[in-house]
Amino acid sequence: MTDAPAPKTPASAAPSAALPDAAPAPSAVTPAPAPSAVTLAPAPDAAPAVVARGLTKVYGSGEAAVHALRGVDVAFAQAHFTAIMGPSGSGKSTLLNLLAGLDTATSGTIVLGGHEITRMDDRDLTILRRTHVGFVFQAFNLLPMFTAEQNIRLPLDLAGQAVDQDWWDSVITTLAIGDRLSHRPAEMSGGQQQRVAIARAVITKPDVIFADEPTGNLDTRTGVEVLSFLRRCVRELNQTVVMVTHDPAAAAHAERVVLLADGRVAGEILHPTSDSVLAGLDALRAVA
Ligand SMILES: Nc1ncnc2c1ncn2[C@@H]1O[C@H](COP(=O)(O)OP(=O)(O)OP(=O)(O)O)[C@@H](O)[C@H]1O
Ligand SMILES: [Mg+2]
Repeated sequence: MTDAPAPKTPASAAPSAALPDAAPAPSAVTPAPAPSAVTLAPAPDAAPAVVARGLTKVYGSGEAAVHALRGVDVAFAQAHFTAIMGPSGSGKSTLLNLLAGLDTATSGTIVLGGHEITRMDDRDLTILRRTHVGFVFQAFNLLPMFTAEQNIRLPLDLAGQAVDQDWWDSVITTLAIGDRLSHRPAEMSGGQQQRVAIARAVITKPDVIFADEPTGNLDTRTGVEVLSFLRRCVRELNQTVVMVTHDPAAAAHAERVVLLADGRVAGEILHPTSDSVLAGLDALRAVA
């Protein structure tokens, strides 16, 4: 991105990730190093907002066991915008759910905002989530009996937060859902529901926004507006955005792309462009 600061990388990071600040964004795909290493070093002057180490997730057991994550080491620096990409079934949604504390890991640790959430009880985790995390679900997960406005207000009510009217107006205007606030989800298009789900995720100004394919149902123009909005959240509110997407053009709005394949981090792309992301995905397919 031209208007986003280049992610800084400490000298001790994997050499491939150590792009000098002034580098003309070569956007190379970096193969993942040994599984025990933390692949993606955060900027030295920004504490990581989220760190996962040795993360595994097995659904089911015995012969029916599905190894969705097979030892993920990844860090997301504060106030950075990262996209996660990879083939269908590679574990993207599973990773996002675990990072947000919505599901429990089979093994490994996650530290979110300085708290090791993999050791927290449900009550503390719920409180932390309400105050620190916004989540846009792949399937929206709006409450069907609530109107759009009630859905968006819900996280504020749960966190006991007052409405910041300026922020409310900005969110509703940017997402262009002002004329749908009294509608229930069943009365809205997929794209409208998606925008309401995004509004719900950002309305409390959480430290970290996890978004699972937030532009998957949007037309190109609306998608670009949503992505610009997420970038504004990073730039102006210092929020951390971690976004799963299948769309290379959407990923190019991020500062970094993390590639997942078969439940593992398979590489990263710094300063992504649509072309470099496509090349990265091709490289993934070639080794699959
Ligand atoms: N609740 C579950 N029970 C059993 N297996 C599951 C469950 N959720 C996900 N899986 C499996 O775990 C693997 C990873 O799924 P996940 O939803 O994380 O993939 P994804 O990368 O998000 O895919 P997509 O791009 O299609 O959304 C898949 O093989 C999937 O079938
Ligand atoms: Mg998914």
